[in-house]
Amino acid sequence: MGQGVLTSAFTRRDGVFHCEDVPAERIALAAGTPTFVYSAAAVRDRYRRLTSALAGVAHRVHYSLKANANRALLTLLRELGSGADVVSGGELFLARRAGFAGGDIIFGGVGKTAQELREALQSGVKLVNVESEGELLLLDSIARELGVIAPVGLRVNPEVTVENPHAYIATGEKGHKFGIPVDDAFDVARSAIGLAHVRLLGLDMHVGSQLATLDPYRDGLARLAELASRLASLGTRLQFIDLGGGLPVHYGEGDEEPDLAAFARIVAPVVRSLDAELLVEPGRFFAAASGVLLSRVLYRKRSGGKDYVVADAGMTELLRPSHYDAYHLIEPATAGATRAVVDVVGPVCESGDFLALGREMDDVSPGDLLVIHTAGAYGYVMSSNYNARPRAAEVMVDGHRYAIVTARQSYQDLTRLERTDPDWRDA
Ligand code: LLP
Repeated sequence: MGQGVLTSAFTRRDGVFHCEDVPAERIALAAGTPTFVYSAAAVRDRYRRLTSALAGVAHRVHYSLKANANRALLTLLRELGSGADVVSGGELFLARRAGFAGGDIIFGGVGKTAQELREALQSGVKLVNVESEGELLLLDSIARELGVIAPVGLRVNPEVTVENPHAYIATGEKGHKFGIPVDDAFDVARSAIGLAHVRLLGLDMHVGSQLATLDPYRDGLARLAELASRLASLGTRLQFIDLGGGLPVHYGEGDEEPDLAAFARIVAPVVRSLDAELLVEPGRFFAAASGVLLSRVLYRKRSGGKDYVVADAGMTELLRPSHYDAYHLIEPATAGATRAVVDVVGPVCESGDFLALGREMDDVSPGDLLVIHTAGAYGYVMSSNYNARPRAAEVMVDGHRYAIVTARQSYQDLTRLERTDPDWRDA
């Protein structure tokens, strides 16, 4: 029954699934399905656990918006003291609108456009994490145009071994598209120091997501530290060491919650010895286990000797199972009496549209409500309108209260940008 995934935020009371004090069925009736449900208490708990583990070192948490950019969630994290980590002009816009000051925002990403760099500088971001020499030169010229000095972090690819569940979410191994190869980083840092409109303030890495061990943090940080001491010998002292995101969460068997105390023991002494501030950019760690996806069972059928549960959510709402073979625990909101082995599939016209394959779970019937666990990160943000499916609703729960914080899209939303009378022009 995946007890490990049921936390104090998600519990069963008399067999009935609750988010904090609110029954899941209550939310499904009010908001419809599919709907993402987030627990404010879970987010607060995770924020406090991480910041207390890091209490022994000067640090700042910058929540990574890519995991979930819901405005209510952003506001909650901002009020807890978090900064933001963004990777596009769109995320920068969302962070600003949720009240983050420019100085609380880190701007990263492997392919920033000139326009995005301009927006970052105009917003007065704390750090632009630069991923190539070409980007550094472009940033310098834009900063000159704007008459400002760009605060720069160099994202280094430390080329470490990364163990995690899927190759698509490993980023810090040799040959990945991200960052500046560690052997080139010193030269790029030297050219940064020589430019008039950038100031080199930090070194950054992000080696992967859902990291299975803490080793890549230790190994990658060792490479950053070595680079930092070489730079110190040139008289450049760095203010920030940014370790990116990657802290894992418990999805099911084989995925463990991170040992935050061990993480702190590994990173704090190194960062302290550099006299720098530690920056971390967790996304999944805050959002994933703080959210579930509610979906209604539409049909139950058999085909080719297999049992199918057809749900009203699928790859359009939660792409992770089909894109990364990811495991998400699924259970009915009201515990069932018998068990069955089923494929839980969505309504999308693709055989790759599934939430679980060959899964043993409590058996369900049409009309039953399903809870798809650990869906708060990389769920809504990766959802799509494929098959002209309106995007799901999002609900925030806080104690005994709940609110629809994002309305379900309407059919009109699907056509809002259409031009019914296009303005044809001669080339
Ligand atoms: N910082 C940078 C520069 C990143 O690229 C990422 C994630 C993070 C921070 C946050 O990482 P986290 O703490 O969430 O592991 N869609 C995939 C995950 C992609 C992660 C991409 N980068 C999934 O559903 O598993």
